[in-house]
Amino acid sequence: MKHLIEPTDLTVAETDSIIALAEDIIADRAKYSDVCRGKKLATLFYEPSTRTRLSFTSAMMELGGDVIGFSDAASSSVSKGETVADTVRVIASFADIIAMRHFKEGAPLVASQYAGIPVINAGDGSHAHPTQTLTDLLTIKREKGRLDHFTIGFCGDLKFGRTVHSLIKALSRYEGVRVILIAPDELRLPEYMRREVCDKCGIDYREVSTMEEVMPELDVLYMTRVQKERFFDEEEFNRVKDSFVLDPQKLAAAKNDMIVLHPLPRVNEITRAVDADPRAAYFRQVENGKFVRMALIYSLLRWAEGEPRRTAPQIDPALIHPEFACSNARCISTTEDVDPLFHLAADGTCRCAYCESRPK
Ligand code: NCD
Repeated sequence: MKHLIEPTDLTVAETDSIIALAEDIIADRAKYSDVCRGKKLATLFYEPSTRTRLSFTSAMMELGGDVIGFSDAASSSVSKGETVADTVRVIASFADIIAMRHFKEGAPLVASQYAGIPVINAGDGSHAHPTQTLTDLLTIKREKGRLDHFTIGFCGDLKFGRTVHSLIKALSRYEGVRVILIAPDELRLPEYMRREVCDKCGIDYREVSTMEEVMPELDVLYMTRVQKERFFDEEEFNRVKDSFVLDPQKLAAAKNDMIVLHPLPRVNEITRAVDADPRAAYFRQVENGKFVRMALIYSLLRWAEGEPRRTAPQIDPALIHPEFACSNARCISTTEDVDPLFHLAADGTCRCAYCESRPK
């Protein structure tokens, strides 16, 4: 059973096939208007979301399928103390595929172990957001015509921004992608990402502290919001919240065919005046999100055809390490009764399989 919890759960060939399918859907929407007739998507959103949830909903509707779910954990049995594992086991008897957003890192991985139907991670804490990554890849492909040999600058909250983590992981598998990390010290890319993804996978990256110094060399500028809800300390948030603002003056130094991406919502990191610039691609990016989610839902459902619906949890026994506990307070394993799973990362360190943090 194929799930999408991390962008690398899809091989490069599978990723490319989903992007190609999304492009085919864009070219001929009528052809796909009925392909998921009789299928149900459950959207389980434990954390606020506008575009991701509605994008999943409209994607399934455009495929001819139906959607059930909740957009507020307070209105579900979670408020009575139900675990993720139990919730998805129940939902799986009503639906064919699940899209889950959760404030706990690793919650969608737990869901995938117990659901018996395909699970899509629609964003877990500061960890990962693989469907935003597919959206970003489709946008880069459509705007630049390729997914290799370009320079991308990531600007803003690289520490808590899950869209950044997932996109860097995905891009590390394409040739000739240069990454420039633009962030204040407090919001640097997490250490596990720098060591494992960047150093070990050999992605060409460097860190700078202003966007002005790199603007002329960028093909893609990926702006992000400072993730206020993930800060433990309000003072620290206030110190960094206005770190980087893209305005027409700064954009003047960029290439004529550079594109500006942003997963949205934006706060103040891109001024409204930039919207009129043809290089501002972030609203086109949103629309691509719907098409790529159509392609993903349809592909996962097709791949699951003929697979038995398993009722026993799907857990690799080699990963179970009761002698360790995760050090991350935002990890699902620190609040719910789940198997303690740890693996050896590419950089040789032991990491929690739910959130990539080190054990205590
Ligand atoms: C992002 C997210 O939720 O991580 N938004 C989205 O899914 N489009 C980015 C953000 O919230 O800043």
